[in-house]
Amino acid sequence: MTGAARKVVLVTGASAGIGRATASLLGEHGWDVVAASRRGTAPQGAQALVMDVDDDGSVEQGVAGVLDRYGRMDAVVSCAGWGLGGAFETTPLDEARAQMETNFWGTVRVARAALPAMRSQGGGRLVWMSSIGGVLGLPFQGYYSASKFALEGLAEAMAHELAPLGVDVTLIEPGNVRTDFTERRRVLRDGGVYAKAMERAITVMERDEQNGVDALKVAQVVSRVLGSRRPPRRVSVGRASERVGIVGKRVMPYRLFEASARGSLGVSRKPLV
Ligand SMILES: NC(=O)c1ccc[n+]([C@@H]2O[C@H](COP(=O)([O-])OP(=O)(O)OC[C@H]3O[C@@H](n4cnc5c(N)ncnc54)[C@H](OP(=O)(O)O)[C@@H]3O)[C@@H](O)[C@H]2O)c1
Repeated sequence: MTGAARKVVLVTGASAGIGRATASLLGEHGWDVVAASRRGTAPQGAQALVMDVDDDGSVEQGVAGVLDRYGRMDAVVSCAGWGLGGAFETTPLDEARAQMETNFWGTVRVARAALPAMRSQGGGRLVWMSSIGGVLGLPFQGYYSASKFALEGLAEAMAHELAPLGVDVTLIEPGNVRTDFTERRRVLRDGGVYAKAMERAITVMERDEQNGVDALKVAQVVSRVLGSRRPPRRVSVGRASERVGIVGKRVMPYRLFEASARGSLGVSRKPLV
């Protein structure tokens, strides 16, 4: 991209991990990048923006500021998110709501704020960071999975509404990626009946994340999606075994799939001890 052809992308969650790698790579590929987060740190070459996706006013102001400065918004890549670990039964609803607030409602807020500009420009791209956890229910991360499943359902539905406007939405489904996500996960340990089972599952998921792919690999997929004339509705990225899991869920009888996935999810059907 050169001169007048430069396109503008807003990347949320750009202070770390996948968002930061994406902001950096898109800048190298010639985009004007606005890198948003609460910390407001940005990779070199990107315009930093302090924006909390949990907050209506912050998102409205942030998107308006981008439009004031650049006059357009060609793409939004929504990476802002965090993980909540805890048992379904004992997770306080306030914690569950907070998870949905950032991962689901935060993504929704930014897309809704950007759409009027995309509509009046005659098109745009929304790229939402879902997860393998948005395809497979992750034990002891149920509310995290719920937030990502919610994005998956909404994206499928709204894609029909937005197609006539030239706006495309793509779900990225990474497996384990080595980022700050693991350390920043809020794990609710209450020492109750689920404690041991949860600890086993959390230990497996943390180990897998630490052995996960580099964030750059996800950034490269985002860049390909944004460069594609016919972007996919969803694309998985990660180790082959994880991608096989996604396909397995779609094609296998569910009980069979569930039984075969237990080992890699760190859970069993034995009584809780
Ligand atoms: N790592 C993985 O294994 C993995 C796998 C699948 C999907 N994902 C998804 O990928 C996305 C990025 O995760 P990551 O691995 O890159 O994690 P990360 O390194 O912890 O980065 C998370 C980013 O989200 C931002 N963020 C969190 N809450 C925010 C809020 N309320 N408003 C604005 N920004 C907020 C953080 O910035 P501030 O704290 O500065 O606001 C940070 O920039 C998440 O949606 C995650 O669910 C991750």
